[in-house]
Amino acid sequence: MVARIAVIGGGQFGEMHLRAFAQMQREGRARLVGLADINEAVLARRHDQYGVAGYPDFKEMLERTDPDAVAIATPDHLHHDAAVCCLKAGKHVLIEKPMDVTLPGCRDIVNLAEERGLLVQVNFHKRFDPYHGRLRDLVAGGCLGEIEYGYAHIEDRIDVPRDWLRTWAARSSPVWFLGVHMYDLVRWLVRAEFRSVSATGSKKKLIRLGIDTYDSVQAKLALDNGGSFTVDSSWILPEAFEAVVNQGIRVVGTEGIMEVDSQDRGARACAGMPGGGAADRGPSMQTPNMGFYFEVKNGRGLPRYGGYGITSIQDFGENVNRILEGASPADLGGVHADGRDGLEATRVAAAVHESLEGGGRIVDLQRDGTAGPHALEQPSGTTR
Ligand SMILES: NC(=O)c1ccc[n+]([C@@H]2O[C@H](COP(=O)([O-])OP(=O)(O)OC[C@H]3O[C@@H](n4cnc5c(N)ncnc54)[C@H](O)[C@@H]3O)[C@@H](O)[C@H]2O)c1
Repeated sequence: MVARIAVIGGGQFGEMHLRAFAQMQREGRARLVGLADINEAVLARRHDQYGVAGYPDFKEMLERTDPDAVAIATPDHLHHDAAVCCLKAGKHVLIEKPMDVTLPGCRDIVNLAEERGLLVQVNFHKRFDPYHGRLRDLVAGGCLGEIEYGYAHIEDRIDVPRDWLRTWAARSSPVWFLGVHMYDLVRWLVRAEFRSVSATGSKKKLIRLGIDTYDSVQAKLALDNGGSFTVDSSWILPEAFEAVVNQGIRVVGTEGIMEVDSQDRGARACAGMPGGGAADRGPSMQTPNMGFYFEVKNGRGLPRYGGYGITSIQDFGENVNRILEGASPADLGGVHADGRDGLEATRVAAAVHESLEGGGRIVDLQRDGTAGPHALEQPSGTTR
Protein backbone atom coordinates (compact mmCIF):
# COMPACT_ATOMS: atom_id res chain seq x y z
CA MET A 1 0.00 0.00 0.00
CA VAL A 2 1.40 3.40 -0.91
CA ALA A 3 0.34 6.83 0.29
CA ARG A 4 -2.31 8.71 -1.68
CA ILE A 5 -1.17 12.31 -1.45
CA ALA A 6 -2.84 15.60 -2.39
CA VAL A 7 -1.30 19.08 -2.53
CA ILE A 8 -2.88 22.42 -1.56
CA GLY A 9 -1.21 25.40 -3.26
CA GLY A 10 0.45 24.87 -6.64
CA GLY A 11 2.49 28.09 -6.85
CA GLN A 12 6.27 28.50 -7.04
CA PHE A 13 7.04 26.17 -4.19
CA GLY A 14 3.98 23.97 -4.53
CA GLU A 15 5.59 22.86 -7.78
CA MET A 16 8.44 21.29 -5.79
CA HIS A 17 5.84 19.18 -3.98
CA LEU A 18 4.28 18.16 -7.28
CA ARG A 19 7.67 17.16 -8.68
CA ALA A 20 8.57 15.19 -5.56
CA PHE A 21 5.31 13.24 -5.45
CA ALA A 22 5.07 12.81 -9.24
CA GLN A 23 8.46 11.12 -9.11
CA MET A 24 7.35 8.89 -6.22
CA GLN A 25 4.30 7.97 -8.28
CA ARG A 26 6.48 6.98 -11.26
CA GLU A 27 8.50 4.79 -8.91
CA GLY A 28 5.40 3.21 -7.33
CA ARG A 29 6.12 4.78 -3.95
CA ALA A 30 3.10 7.15 -3.75
CA ARG A 31 0.10 8.36 -5.71
CA LEU A 32 -0.45 12.04 -6.47
CA VAL A 33 -4.25 12.28 -6.32
CA GLY A 34 -5.05 15.98 -6.62
CA LEU A 35 -4.04 19.62 -6.44
CA ALA A 36 -6.17 22.38 -4.94
CA ASP A 37 -5.51 26.00 -5.86
CA ILE A 38 -7.82 29.00 -5.99
CA ASN A 39 -6.15 30.07 -9.24
CA GLU A 40 -7.62 28.21 -12.23
CA ALA A 41 -4.62 29.11 -14.42
CA VAL A 42 -2.31 27.38 -11.91
CA LEU A 43 -4.51 24.27 -11.95
CA ALA A 44 -4.46 24.16 -15.76
CA ARG A 45 -0.68 24.60 -15.94
CA ARG A 46 0.05 21.98 -13.31
CA HIS A 47 -2.34 19.54 -14.99
CA ASP A 48 -0.40 19.95 -18.24
CA GLN A 49 2.94 19.53 -16.48
CA TYR A 50 2.18 16.78 -13.96
CA GLY A 51 -1.14 15.27 -15.08
CA VAL A 52 -2.64 16.08 -11.70
CA ALA A 53 -6.39 16.61 -11.28
CA GLY A 54 -7.18 20.17 -10.13
CA TYR A 55 -9.75 21.49 -7.66
CA PRO A 56 -10.45 25.17 -6.92
CA ASP A 57 -11.59 24.34 -3.36
CA PHE A 58 -9.43 22.18 -1.10
CA LYS A 59 -12.42 20.94 0.91
CA GLU A 60 -13.97 19.60 -2.28
CA MET A 61 -10.64 17.97 -3.14
CA LEU A 62 -10.53 16.25 0.26
CA GLU A 63 -14.03 14.87 -0.23
CA ARG A 64 -13.56 13.81 -3.84
CA THR A 65 -10.09 12.27 -3.57
CA ASP A 66 -10.01 11.10 0.08
CA PRO A 67 -6.18 11.16 0.30
CA ASP A 68 -4.15 9.62 3.13
CA ALA A 69 -2.05 12.76 3.38
CA VAL A 70 -1.94 16.37 2.23
CA ALA A 71 0.99 18.70 1.54
CA ILE A 72 0.18 22.37 2.19
CA ALA A 73 2.07 25.03 0.19
CA THR A 74 -0.25 28.04 0.44
CA PRO A 75 1.03 31.47 1.57
CA ASP A 76 2.40 31.46 5.14
CA HIS A 77 -0.65 33.02 6.82
CA LEU A 78 -3.02 30.48 5.24
CA HIS A 79 -1.37 27.26 6.47
CA HIS A 80 -3.40 27.04 9.68
CA ASP A 81 -6.90 26.79 8.23
CA ALA A 82 -5.90 24.22 5.63
CA ALA A 83 -3.97 22.14 8.19
CA VAL A 84 -6.80 22.15 10.74
CA CYS A 85 -9.30 21.15 8.08
CA CYS A 86 -7.10 18.29 6.84
CA LEU A 87 -6.38 17.01 10.35
CA LYS A 88 -10.09 17.09 11.23
CA ALA A 89 -10.67 15.00 8.12
CA GLY A 90 -8.11 12.47 9.42
CA LYS A 91 -5.28 13.30 6.98
CA HIS A 92 -1.56 13.38 7.75
CA VAL A 93 -0.09 16.77 6.80
CA LEU A 94 3.16 18.18 5.48
CA ILE A 95 3.15 21.95 6.05
CA GLU A 96 5.49 24.37 4.36
CA LYS A 97 7.49 26.51 6.73
CA PRO A 98 6.54 28.37 8.87
CA MET A 99 3.99 25.94 10.29
CA ASP A 100 1.82 28.95 11.21
CA VAL A 101 2.59 32.59 11.91
CA THR A 102 1.00 32.45 15.38
CA LEU A 103 1.73 30.30 18.42
CA PRO A 104 -1.95 29.59 19.13
CA GLY A 105 -2.30 28.41 15.54
CA CYS A 106 0.65 26.04 15.95
CA ARG A 107 -0.84 24.71 19.20
CA ASP A 108 -4.13 23.96 17.45
CA ILE A 109 -2.30 21.98 14.79
CA VAL A 110 -0.09 20.02 17.20
CA ASN A 111 -2.91 19.26 19.62
CA LEU A 112 -5.26 18.09 16.89
CA ALA A 113 -2.60 15.84 15.38
CA GLU A 114 -1.62 14.33 18.73
CA GLU A 115 -5.25 13.73 19.74
CA ARG A 116 -5.88 11.89 16.48
CA GLY A 117 -2.55 10.08 16.10
CA LEU A 118 -1.77 11.91 12.84
CA LEU A 119 1.60 12.99 11.47
CA VAL A 120 2.44 16.68 11.19
CA GLN A 121 5.69 17.28 9.35
CA VAL A 122 7.05 20.78 8.67
CA ASN A 123 9.16 21.26 5.57
CA PHE A 124 12.37 22.54 7.14
CA HIS A 125 14.40 21.09 4.32
CA LYS A 126 17.79 22.44 5.50
CA ARG A 127 17.85 19.40 7.81
CA PHE A 128 18.11 17.23 4.67
CA ASP A 129 21.15 19.05 3.25
CA PRO A 130 24.03 16.57 3.64
CA TYR A 131 26.43 19.40 4.49
CA HIS A 132 24.27 20.24 7.49
CA GLY A 133 24.01 16.55 8.34
CA ARG A 134 27.81 16.42 8.57
CA LEU A 135 27.79 19.45 10.84
CA ARG A 136 25.19 17.86 13.11
CA ASP A 137 27.26 14.66 13.30
CA LEU A 138 30.37 16.65 14.28
CA VAL A 139 28.45 18.45 17.01
CA ALA A 140 26.80 15.24 18.25
CA GLY A 141 30.15 13.40 18.27
CA GLY A 142 31.69 16.11 20.44
CA CYS A 143 34.22 16.91 17.70
CA LEU A 144 33.64 20.64 18.06
CA GLY A 145 33.67 20.46 21.87
CA GLU A 146 31.16 22.59 23.74
CA ILE A 147 29.36 24.89 21.31
CA GLU A 148 30.09 28.51 22.18
CA TYR A 149 28.71 30.56 19.31
CA GLY A 150 27.76 30.61 15.68
CA TYR A 151 26.34 32.60 12.83
CA ALA A 152 23.86 31.94 10.03
CA HIS A 153 22.66 34.06 7.15
CA ILE A 154 19.82 33.56 4.68
CA GLU A 155 19.13 36.25 2.10
CA ASP A 156 16.89 36.37 -0.97
CA ARG A 157 17.09 38.56 -4.03
CA ILE A 158 14.69 41.52 -4.18
CA ASP A 159 12.60 39.82 -6.88
CA VAL A 160 11.31 37.31 -4.32
CA PRO A 161 9.23 39.78 -2.22
CA ARG A 162 8.72 42.26 -5.07
CA ASP A 163 7.61 39.88 -7.86
CA TRP A 164 7.35 36.27 -6.73
CA LEU A 165 5.37 36.95 -3.52
CA ARG A 166 3.87 40.26 -4.65
CA THR A 167 0.37 39.42 -3.39
CA TRP A 168 1.42 38.47 0.12
CA ALA A 169 4.98 39.66 0.94
CA ALA A 170 3.54 42.44 3.13
CA ARG A 171 1.86 39.76 5.25
CA SER A 172 5.21 38.00 5.72
CA SER A 173 8.74 39.12 6.56
CA PRO A 174 12.35 37.94 6.15
CA VAL A 175 11.85 36.32 9.56
CA TRP A 176 8.77 34.27 8.61
CA PHE A 177 9.90 33.49 5.07
CA LEU A 178 13.62 32.90 5.65
CA GLY A 179 14.94 33.31 9.21
CA VAL A 180 12.66 30.58 10.52
CA HIS A 181 14.66 28.04 8.46
CA MET A 182 17.81 28.97 10.35
CA TYR A 183 16.18 29.09 13.79
CA ASP A 184 15.09 25.50 13.22
CA LEU A 185 18.47 24.52 11.78
CA VAL A 186 20.45 25.91 14.73
CA ARG A 187 18.17 24.23 17.27
CA TRP A 188 18.41 20.92 15.38
CA LEU A 189 22.20 21.12 14.94
CA VAL A 190 23.13 21.90 18.52
CA ARG A 191 20.23 20.06 20.22
CA ALA A 192 19.53 22.93 22.60
CA GLU A 193 16.55 25.18 23.22
CA PHE A 194 16.53 28.94 22.80
CA ARG A 195 16.48 30.94 26.03
CA SER A 196 16.07 34.51 24.80
CA VAL A 197 16.20 36.63 21.69
CA SER A 198 16.78 40.25 20.73
CA ALA A 199 16.52 41.68 17.24
CA THR A 200 16.96 44.77 15.12
CA GLY A 201 15.65 45.35 11.62
CA SER A 202 15.40 47.81 8.75
CA LYS A 203 12.49 49.01 6.63
CA LYS A 204 13.86 51.11 3.77
CA LYS A 205 13.83 49.55 0.33
CA LEU A 206 10.59 47.54 0.26
CA ILE A 207 8.55 50.24 1.89
CA ARG A 208 9.58 52.56 -0.96
CA LEU A 209 8.19 49.94 -3.35
CA GLY A 210 4.88 49.98 -1.48
CA ILE A 211 5.51 46.71 0.41
CA ASP A 212 5.23 47.34 4.14
CA THR A 213 7.53 44.77 5.67
CA TYR A 214 11.11 44.50 6.90
CA ASP A 215 13.99 44.49 4.42
CA SER A 216 16.32 42.76 6.84
CA VAL A 217 16.42 41.47 10.40
CA GLN A 218 19.36 40.56 12.65
CA ALA A 219 18.48 38.29 15.57
CA LYS A 220 20.73 37.40 18.49
CA LEU A 221 19.64 34.10 19.99
CA ALA A 222 20.81 32.79 23.36
CA LEU A 223 20.65 29.02 23.92
CA ASP A 224 20.02 27.24 27.20
CA ASN A 225 23.40 25.46 26.85
CA GLY A 226 25.17 28.82 27.24
CA GLY A 227 25.91 29.27 23.54
CA SER A 228 24.59 32.03 21.30
CA PHE A 229 23.92 32.47 17.59
CA THR A 230 23.37 35.45 15.34
CA VAL A 231 20.97 34.92 12.44
CA ASP A 232 20.69 37.48 9.64
CA SER A 233 17.72 37.30 7.28
CA SER A 234 16.91 39.64 4.41
CA TRP A 235 15.24 39.73 1.00
CA ILE A 236 16.66 42.78 -0.71
CA LEU A 237 19.78 41.47 -2.48
CA PRO A 238 20.09 43.10 -5.94
CA GLU A 239 18.85 41.29 -9.03
CA ALA A 240 22.46 41.02 -10.27
CA PHE A 241 23.34 38.87 -7.24
CA GLU A 242 24.74 35.45 -8.17
CA ALA A 243 21.76 33.40 -6.94
CA VAL A 244 18.17 33.82 -5.85
CA VAL A 245 19.22 32.90 -2.32
CA ASN A 246 22.44 33.31 -0.36
CA GLN A 247 22.89 31.23 2.76
CA GLY A 248 25.47 29.77 5.10
CA ILE A 249 26.23 28.77 8.66
CA ARG A 250 29.26 28.50 10.93
CA VAL A 251 29.51 26.88 14.33
CA VAL A 252 32.39 27.35 16.77
CA GLY A 253 33.04 25.19 19.82
CA THR A 254 35.77 24.78 22.40
CA GLU A 255 37.54 22.20 20.19
CA GLY A 256 36.59 23.01 16.63
CA ILE A 257 34.85 24.96 13.94
CA MET A 258 32.82 24.09 10.87
CA GLU A 259 31.72 26.54 8.22
CA VAL A 260 29.24 25.71 5.45
CA ASP A 261 28.60 27.84 2.40
CA SER A 262 25.11 26.46 1.91
CA GLN A 263 24.65 28.29 -1.40
CA ASP A 264 27.74 28.05 -3.58
CA ARG A 265 28.30 24.33 -4.26
CA GLY A 266 30.93 24.97 -6.89
CA ALA A 267 28.69 25.18 -9.97
CA ARG A 268 29.00 28.46 -11.88
CA ALA A 269 27.16 29.63 -15.00
CA CYS A 270 26.57 32.87 -16.83
CA ALA A 271 23.41 31.60 -18.56
CA GLY A 272 20.72 29.06 -17.68
CA MET A 273 21.65 25.68 -16.26
CA PRO A 274 19.83 22.81 -18.03
CA GLY A 275 16.82 21.97 -15.94
CA GLY A 276 17.88 24.51 -13.36
CA GLY A 277 14.80 26.71 -13.74
CA ALA A 278 14.42 30.43 -14.06
CA ALA A 279 15.94 31.06 -10.66
CA ASP A 280 19.37 30.14 -12.03
CA ARG A 281 19.27 32.72 -14.79
CA GLY A 282 20.39 36.24 -14.20
CA PRO A 283 22.32 39.11 -15.67
CA SER A 284 25.64 38.02 -14.18
CA MET A 285 27.65 34.92 -13.22
CA GLN A 286 25.34 32.65 -11.24
CA THR A 287 26.03 29.93 -8.68
CA PRO A 288 23.04 27.59 -8.88
CA ASN A 289 22.68 25.55 -5.71
CA MET A 290 22.66 22.05 -7.19
CA GLY A 291 22.52 20.64 -3.66
CA PHE A 292 19.02 22.02 -3.26
CA TYR A 293 17.52 20.96 -6.58
CA PHE A 294 18.55 19.37 -9.84
CA GLU A 295 16.86 17.54 -12.65
CA VAL A 296 18.27 14.89 -14.96
CA LYS A 297 16.47 12.85 -17.63
CA ASN A 298 16.54 9.06 -17.45
CA GLY A 299 16.88 6.79 -20.49
CA ARG A 300 13.15 7.05 -21.19
CA GLY A 301 13.40 10.84 -21.24
CA LEU A 302 11.57 11.14 -17.93
CA PRO A 303 12.86 13.71 -15.46
CA ARG A 304 14.47 12.58 -12.26
CA TYR A 305 14.58 15.22 -9.55
CA GLY A 306 17.08 15.36 -6.74
CA GLY A 307 18.53 17.56 -4.03
CA TYR A 308 17.42 18.21 -0.49
CA GLY A 309 14.52 20.37 -1.74
CA ILE A 310 13.04 17.18 -3.17
CA THR A 311 14.16 14.58 -0.63
CA SER A 312 12.68 16.48 2.32
CA ILE A 313 9.25 16.37 0.66
CA GLN A 314 9.62 12.73 -0.36
CA ASP A 315 10.58 11.91 3.23
CA PHE A 316 7.01 12.82 4.17
CA GLY A 317 5.66 10.40 1.57
CA GLU A 318 7.90 7.64 2.94
CA ASN A 319 6.82 8.44 6.51
CA VAL A 320 3.16 8.18 5.53
CA ASN A 321 3.93 4.84 3.86
CA ARG A 322 5.43 3.61 7.12
CA ILE A 323 2.37 4.76 9.05
CA LEU A 324 0.13 2.92 6.57
CA GLU A 325 2.23 -0.17 7.32
CA GLY A 326 1.48 0.20 11.04
CA ALA A 327 4.02 2.65 12.49
CA SER A 328 2.83 5.54 14.63
CA PRO A 329 4.12 9.11 14.09
CA ALA A 330 6.11 8.74 17.32
CA ASP A 331 7.95 5.68 15.89
CA LEU A 332 9.30 7.46 12.83
CA GLY A 333 12.72 8.78 13.87
CA GLY A 334 14.74 10.35 11.05
CA VAL A 335 15.63 13.99 10.65
CA HIS A 336 12.29 15.54 9.73
CA ALA A 337 10.80 18.41 11.74
CA ASP A 338 7.56 17.41 13.44
CA GLY A 339 4.77 19.65 14.70
CA ARG A 340 6.49 20.44 17.97
CA ASP A 341 9.64 21.46 16.08
CA GLY A 342 7.47 23.67 13.88
CA LEU A 343 5.95 25.24 16.97
CA GLU A 344 9.41 25.99 18.43
CA ALA A 345 10.54 27.72 15.23
CA THR A 346 7.37 29.83 15.25
CA ARG A 347 7.95 30.65 18.93
CA VAL A 348 11.38 32.08 18.03
CA ALA A 349 10.12 33.94 14.95
CA ALA A 350 7.24 35.48 16.91
CA ALA A 351 9.69 36.55 19.65
CA VAL A 352 12.01 38.08 17.03
CA HIS A 353 9.09 40.22 15.85
CA GLU A 354 8.17 41.06 19.44
CA SER A 355 11.72 42.28 20.02
CA LEU A 356 11.69 44.28 16.77
CA GLU A 357 8.47 46.02 17.77
CA GLY A 358 9.89 46.61 21.24
CA GLY A 359 12.95 48.47 19.95
CA GLY A 360 15.30 45.50 20.20
CA ARG A 361 14.52 44.52 23.79
CA ILE A 362 15.44 41.04 25.00
CA VAL A 363 12.50 38.64 24.90
CA ASP A 364 12.60 35.72 27.31
CA LEU A 365 11.58 32.58 25.43
CA GLN A 366 11.16 30.54 28.57
CA ARG A 367 9.12 33.16 30.44
CA ASP A 368 6.17 30.82 30.92
CA GLY A 369 8.35 27.78 31.52
CA THR A 370 7.02 26.18 28.38
CA ALA A 371 9.87 26.35 25.87
CA GLY A 372 11.12 23.03 24.66
CA PRO A 373 9.81 20.11 22.69
CA HIS A 374 8.24 18.28 25.63
CA ALA A 375 6.29 21.18 27.05
CA LEU A 376 3.29 21.96 24.95
CA GLU A 377 0.94 24.67 26.20
CA GLN A 378 -2.76 24.10 26.69
CA PRO A 379 -4.83 24.09 23.52
CA SER A 380 -5.88 27.57 22.48
CA GLY A 381 -9.22 26.36 21.26
CA THR A 382 -8.95 28.79 18.39
CA THR A 383 -9.84 27.65 14.92
CA ARG A 384 -9.54 30.78 12.85
N1 LIG B 1 10.86 25.38 1.90
C1 LIG B 1 11.27 26.48 1.23
O1 LIG B 1 12.45 26.77 1.09
C2 LIG B 1 10.27 27.38 0.63
C3 LIG B 1 10.61 28.19 -0.44
C4 LIG B 1 9.64 29.01 -0.95
C5 LIG B 1 8.39 29.05 -0.38
N2 LIG B 1 8.11 28.25 0.68
C6 LIG B 1 6.80 28.28 1.35
O2 LIG B 1 5.84 27.68 0.48
C7 LIG B 1 4.59 28.33 0.67
C8 LIG B 1 4.10 28.79 -0.69
O3 LIG B 1 5.02 29.73 -1.18
P1 LIG B 1 5.12 30.02 -2.73
O4 LIG B 1 6.40 30.69 -2.93
O5 LIG B 1 4.80 28.80 -3.52
O6 LIG B 1 3.93 31.08 -2.92
P2 LIG B 1 3.08 31.35 -4.23
O7 LIG B 1 2.39 32.64 -3.98
O8 LIG B 1 3.93 31.18 -5.45
O9 LIG B 1 2.01 30.15 -4.26
C9 LIG B 1 0.96 30.05 -3.34
C10 LIG B 1 -0.20 29.34 -4.06
O10 LIG B 1 -1.24 29.11 -3.10
C11 LIG B 1 -2.47 29.35 -3.77
N3 LIG B 1 -3.51 29.60 -2.77
C12 LIG B 1 -3.72 30.72 -2.03
N4 LIG B 1 -4.78 30.53 -1.21
C13 LIG B 1 -5.22 29.27 -1.42
C14 LIG B 1 -6.27 28.50 -0.87
N5 LIG B 1 -7.09 28.97 0.08
N6 LIG B 1 -6.46 27.23 -1.33
C15 LIG B 1 -5.64 26.73 -2.30
N7 LIG B 1 -4.63 27.43 -2.85
C16 LIG B 1 -4.41 28.68 -2.41
C17 LIG B 1 -2.19 30.54 -4.68
O11 LIG B 1 -3.14 30.67 -5.73
C18 LIG B 1 -0.80 30.19 -5.20
O12 LIG B 1 -0.84 29.43 -6.41
C19 LIG B 1 4.82 29.46 1.67
O13 LIG B 1 4.46 29.04 2.95
C20 LIG B 1 6.31 29.69 1.60
O14 LIG B 1 6.86 30.22 2.79
C21 LIG B 1 9.00 27.41 1.16
